[in-house]
Amino acid sequence: MVRTRWSKDSLYNLVETELGDSLFIVVSNREPYVHAYTSESGQQIKVTHPVGGLTEALDPVMRAAGGTWVAWGSGDADFDEKIVDKDQRVMVPPPPEESRYALRRVKLTESDVAGFYLGFANESLWPLCHVTFTPPDYREDWWHTYQKVNRYFADSVLREIGNRKAVVLVQDYHFALLSHYLKESNPDLTVGQFWHIPWPDYEAFRTCPWNEEIITGMLGNDLMGFHIRDFCNNFLDNAARVLGAEIDRENAIITYRGNTTEVRPFPISVDFDSLNTQAGMEEVEQEMEKLRKELDLDGKCLGVGMDRMDYTKGIPERLMALDKFFEDNPEYRGKVVFVQAGMPSRTQIDTYKQIGQRIDDLMDGLNEKYGTGSWKPVVAMTRQLSPVTLHALRRLANFCVVSSLHDGMNLVAKEYAASRVDGDGVLILSKFTGAAVEMKDSLLINPYDIGDFAFKIKEAVEMPESERRRRMKNMRAIVSENNIYKWAGTMVSRLMEITGK
Ligand code: G6P
Repeated sequence: MVRTRWSKDSLYNLVETELGDSLFIVVSNREPYVHAYTSESGQQIKVTHPVGGLTEALDPVMRAAGGTWVAWGSGDADFDEKIVDKDQRVMVPPPPEESRYALRRVKLTESDVAGFYLGFANESLWPLCHVTFTPPDYREDWWHTYQKVNRYFADSVLREIGNRKAVVLVQDYHFALLSHYLKESNPDLTVGQFWHIPWPDYEAFRTCPWNEEIITGMLGNDLMGFHIRDFCNNFLDNAARVLGAEIDRENAIITYRGNTTEVRPFPISVDFDSLNTQAGMEEVEQEMEKLRKELDLDGKCLGVGMDRMDYTKGIPERLMALDKFFEDNPEYRGKVVFVQAGMPSRTQIDTYKQIGQRIDDLMDGLNEKYGTGSWKPVVAMTRQLSPVTLHALRRLANFCVVSSLHDGMNLVAKEYAASRVDGDGVLILSKFTGAAVEMKDSLLINPYDIGDFAFKIKEAVEMPESERRRRMKNMRAIVSENNIYKWAGTMVSRLMEITGK
């Protein structure tokens, strides 16, 4: 059957027909809605959205599919009795929107967070999986906490399921062991996992002292998804070389201790239709007008970068390339403004503090070197920006820079294309992102090659309108077709197909 383009409705229908009476459960570390007290007295509670691609991508999926999302309750008001029921569950999205699914929160202690989230997930696995030459720190106590917290989450998922049938979709590197624990307790469960970051090759992965346990844990899944084929191939290699598992390369199936796991690429994406509609709204146009004045953009060209402040994003390289661009092309001084919208992230970790400081220093340096009384080449926006402001910035930007040193997918690139309802704009994109596989009409860069990067900025600034439009049209068509519903729909249908359910 040839399927027409995936949408919210087709995902909903798929879940209705294929899952039948099975409960649909998503598990991730980060939750989509955070409740926090606004005042000391604890009387007022506000809801915020965390920064990051995973929750942005999965919330529309859960809104369409329904079911339960199990995640760490990280807000100080998350477990307030006014908010959650006795099972720590709250229906979301919160009012005034109509609620669509349940969010079941897992409580972690400060030391769990330190060992599991800040420690093993973000100081061991994150640098291990990203090739940015930041050495992973493998501490044994973090590893033990990581195992313990994976068990907590398994218990919470199993309690949520009770005696029902269920399909569980585990998310990301925080839960390499979870699927194995789930299957140990209930072999009838259908379990898939999606790894949102790159998967390293054997030479890198074998540095991890617990590499066998990690792969064994992931082979608890019936289906293991990565963004691109290269990551799948790395995973197959690791399973063969680390565990001696049997590999059917043609069908990408791993057999280990009598169980099979299929390994496939599912490139994640954004809710194209929703971003496209929102970006064209009147309030976005008004915000654009406001920003045009605030940033004094008349007669100037605007570039933007929008990232979680992470050392994988290549922000210093971007600033060095801008420096070279202004150095080599003095005619553009006073004519190009670059806005770096960088949302603080994982600020308790030293490597993140250092990258924040380095970015600040580089920006100050650029502004001192080239700035005049009336013009600053780079402007930092570090506050959490509203969706309206983000759309306005993307729509105003003549070019958007995504310069990750290594990135599983990178949804900023896809959001930029989805927001450009006017069909204009140039995307400068690192070759080392998963998105580069699909978005071939961007200007592809090696972010380490500062000379070429600076040259691509010039090319973006000078690109004729007809070429800009041709490239953007192609990129928008790709993101519209390969949207987030396709990602979720193809993953769920494959999972049901291979488990014969
Ligand atoms: C990446 C990870 C996600 C994570 C997000 C934000 O996109 O793949 O799992 O949620 O970063 O990071 P944080 O540590 O704030 O959850």
